[in-house]
Formats: sequence, C-alpha cells, structure tokens
Amino acid sequence: MNTSELLPEVDVIEGVYLCTRLDLPELFSAAMAEKKGLRLYRPEDVPDPARIRFALVWAPAEDAFDAYPNVELVQVIAAGVDGVLHNPSLPENAVVTRVHDPEQAATMAGFAVWHVVWHHRKMGTYLKAQQDANWSRYLIKTLKSPSLITVGILGYGLMGKAIAQATAALGFQVLVASRTAGESEAGITRISGDDAVNEVAAQADILINVLPLTPQTRNVLNAKLFAIMPKGAALIQLGRGDHLVEEDLIAALDSGQIGGASLDVFKQEPLPDTHPFWTHPNVVVTPHEASVTTPEVVANALENAINDVAAGRCPTSIVDLKTGY
Ligand code: GLV
Repeated sequence: MNTSELLPEVDVIEGVYLCTRLDLPELFSAAMAEKKGLRLYRPEDVPDPARIRFALVWAPAEDAFDAYPNVELVQVIAAGVDGVLHNPSLPENAVVTRVHDPEQAATMAGFAVWHVVWHHRKMGTYLKAQQDANWSRYLIKTLKSPSLITVGILGYGLMGKAIAQATAALGFQVLVASRTAGESEAGITRISGDDAVNEVAAQADILINVLPLTPQTRNVLNAKLFAIMPKGAALIQLGRGDHLVEEDLIAALDSGQIGGASLDVFKQEPLPDTHPFWTHPNVVVTPHEASVTTPEVVANALENAINDVAAGRCPTSIVDLKTGY
C-alpha cells in the first residue's frame, strides 16, 4: 500500500458538506473538484473530524457541527443565511459567509420584473382568455402607464438594488424600504427608519419583498400591512416563507384587498400539495427558484472566503451575526 494515501496532504484544507435537504455533494462535487487546495467530504466519509476546517452548508441539522470542533468557516450555498445563524451547534468563533453574487442578483431582478409586468398587465387574464379563444382587449381603457404605478421594494441589499434598478428602467415609480439611510439612485426613492416598510407598502401598487429573515422581519407581510396597501395591490414574495402570514394573505386575496400574488417562498417547502395557494386563481406559485446560483459561483465564493480567513482577512461575503445578513 502506498503509505502517502494514509497521510493528510498538508496543503489541502478539508471540509464537510452539511445539509438536511439537498444532496450537496451531487450538486457541488464537480465544481469543487476544480479547487485543488480544498477537499470536501460527506459526513460519513470524513477521515478525521478534527481536521475539518470548513463546512459548506444549507439547512444543517441542529447538531450538525458538533462533530467538527475545528471548523473556522461556514459557507452557506445561498444569499439567505437564516437557516444557519440560529443553529445551536454553530461554532462560536466560526466565520459565516454567504453567496454575494451580482449574477444571482441579476437573475432575481429579471424574475421580479417579469412578475411586475405580469401584475401590471394582468397577464393571468390573457392566459384564461386564450383557453377559450377569447379575443378581448381587457386593458384598452384602463391600462395605466408605468410612471403612474408605484413599485415598492422591501430590502435594499444586493438583490433589492438590482430589482430597483431593473424596475426603474421600465419606467415605474420605485420606492424602496432600506434599514439604513443613504443616497437614492436616479429614479429610486429610498425610505429608511422604523416605519419604512409601512410607508413603502402604503404607496405600493405592487410590493416586492426581498428582506432578509430576522426576528424583526418575521411575519412582516401580515393583515395589518395588507390593509394599508392600495386596494387591489399585488404582492411579489421572494424573501423567505416566514416573512408571510399565509392565512392573512389568503383572506386579503379573497376580499380583493390584495389583487394578486406571486409567491416563490413558503413556510413549508415543498409547498404541500393540498395548500390553497396552488389553486388560488390570483396566485402564481414557483418552487423557490426566483434566483439560483451556479455551483461554480458557490465554489469560488468558498475558495475566496477560505483564502481570506487563512490570510487573516475579513471575507467580503461575511455575514454580520448581529444584523443576521
Ligand atoms: C435563495 O433563497 C438564497 O437565499 O440565495
């Protein structure tokens, strides 16, 4: 036997995949194979847990990190990190990083504006009419120009900014709710402060949610918020399922207070097949795919973060554990 097979390679940094929901090795092993300085294992294949210095994760089990006392870096495969930050076994001193990818934001922006146009142009009406070969020009008398429609965006991070710019480029009025005050860009009005979400929602004909999930934003999309929105407004929910009180949305849709909703994220995923959202006439359901990122982007993010940590630098994609994003 070649004894070198039994020895750890000193220049290889070892890590572990930790996930309860996806087969991460199947998704990422080809991209990770390109990263010659890194080696990732399934938990059951880890040769020596004490040598594991990083983890690539998505929805890890509550005790997932217990076996790996020397983990220094936890790289989340997505932009949202809510499924990891409150993990009770997360090592206290580990740096948590996430994906911060302009391409992912551009993908999200494309998805968001598609839904903005869907609600502005009442596309569901055309699809139903087509089934009956019904040529009716529904909007000829009522269509408002984009400049008369206010699109509200909750969240002004990488995703919120990309969505705001793409929406403003189509001529809509754009209002964003941002935790921090700062400059507004051309065509985008920025509102900050404790009441920013309400101020934006109160004016939004179409409201897009891309907030991070934190204790402050949990259940932020609720009956009270829907009640202050313009009657018949639309909701585009791209944040996290726990932002939305689902029964409040169904009541608001049924009363007509909310005219339509596009929902990509849910309290329970996959959305149970008996859930009323599937069949609601004014709801568009998609399976948490508003923005996806490629394995190569995740592998690069991980490699950059590991290099930063190894060199004593703060990774650019580090998560602030206080704000939760
Ligand atoms: C997707 O949900 C993400 O957080 O990137």
